[in-house]
Amino acid sequence: MEKQLEILTKAVTTWLAEERPVVQAPAAQELAAQLDVSLGEQGADWPTLEAAVRNYLHYNPDAAQPDFFKLLYSGRNDAALLGDWITSLSNATMHTYQVGPVATLMELELIRQWNRLVGFDDTSEGVMVAGGSQANLIGMMLARHHVCPDYKTRGSQGQTLVAYVSDQAHYSAQKAANVLGIGTDNLIAVATDEQGRMCPDALTAEINASIANGHVPFFIGLTAGTTVTGAFDPVAACSKIAKAHNIWLHIDGAWGAPVLFSQQHRHLLADSHLADSVAWDAHKLMNVPITAAVILVKHAGALTACCSGGGGDYLFHADENAAYNLGERSIQCGRRADALKVWLSWKALGNQGFAAKIDHLQAMRATCVEHIGASSQLELLADASYLNVLFRFNPGTGLTEAQLRTLNIEICKIMMRSGGPYVDYAQYKGRTGIRLILANGEVNAGHIERLMAKVERVGDELSAM
Ligand SMILES: Cc1ncc(COP(=O)(O)O)c(C=O)c1O
Repeated sequence: MEKQLEILTKAVTTWLAEERPVVQAPAAQELAAQLDVSLGEQGADWPTLEAAVRNYLHYNPDAAQPDFFKLLYSGRNDAALLGDWITSLSNATMHTYQVGPVATLMELELIRQWNRLVGFDDTSEGVMVAGGSQANLIGMMLARHHVCPDYKTRGSQGQTLVAYVSDQAHYSAQKAANVLGIGTDNLIAVATDEQGRMCPDALTAEINASIANGHVPFFIGLTAGTTVTGAFDPVAACSKIAKAHNIWLHIDGAWGAPVLFSQQHRHLLADSHLADSVAWDAHKLMNVPITAAVILVKHAGALTACCSGGGGDYLFHADENAAYNLGERSIQCGRRADALKVWLSWKALGNQGFAAKIDHLQAMRATCVEHIGASSQLELLADASYLNVLFRFNPGTGLTEAQLRTLNIEICKIMMRSGGPYVDYAQYKGRTGIRLILANGEVNAGHIERLMAKVERVGDELSAM
């Protein structure tokens, strides 16, 4: 153990002390030519492993820096990092209480707290999962089980089930329709309004069309915080439609659900209690190392009814701990004890710590919007009500949409090659812009000013060519 600890301590202290750009990896083929990542018959010594660790850290983007605006996570969470290390040290697994006793109690407490934030009562349940995509998959699976409990054992029996998400929903809905045998053609992308929110009237029309075709509507997947623009679908209106047709209502809150911590901004996800299930990622806005996520379910027993099967002959013993064995609620067998890192960070920050972070980032969002509004060369491409700001550089010289797309993609590439700030481009309703994500609680107005100034400078230089 001594050698690993020595390498770990050195790697961590060097990493923390070092000044480096937020992004510095060359393109894949160039890096592949530079690095030796080959494996072979002979084992290697510690110095070789230490060099590999150094390279790994050197080339990975530094997602902890405030200049990392590229994805829906950023920053360092020291309590959670400690939890991640300890989790690997003790290597618990979460199918039974016996092999993860404290982690099981922590996971149950987390689920109770998350359910309270959503507005579910203490009889509601949940299970931690390997990311929002898996949470959405299980949400759809619960919906399938709700409308058609035989599907689990007998398959589709000739029925065509139809699922509805907005045209701004995350692609995990497609994965889920694929994995569950629904068929991606039976996943309907419902039209959204200008703000990227699902239109309830369009949802009703799609459901009626499915019924007219003899199909069975079974799943409405709303998004709380869409991936590109951060839009929140209207829960109350869609809940009425779901109830009228006995359709399961799921909310993908992978990105947006943490807004519920904030008294000031939780109105964005008002009525979350009307859902049957909610996906929530702790590895996005709660800033816990990847992966940490949960599926929350209003109806006690629904997860076990839907997910269980097998394992009773050797694993899930009917002993005094049986009620604490979480494995039958899950689609996994071995499952990492992600609860510890989330629990430690929640314990360290309290609900108020997360609320303060969200309130601060919302203030930074207002700063971005103000800056864009005051610039003659920057324009917002979508309403920014949450922590996504989609904007573009437009020199106002009559460029076509295609030319503006090329220009803004080039701005992102140049910013990345020059070491940051690190942003990405995205498309929304036919227009391409720069997507800035506010996920790092250390971002201040200075970071925003620097980023906007660089976009304008690079944009000016490219436009002058
Ligand atoms: C709205 C939304 N849902 C689900 C996901 C998938 O989450 P994960 O990456 O944890 O699987 C994402 C990822 O960005 C997302 O933005």
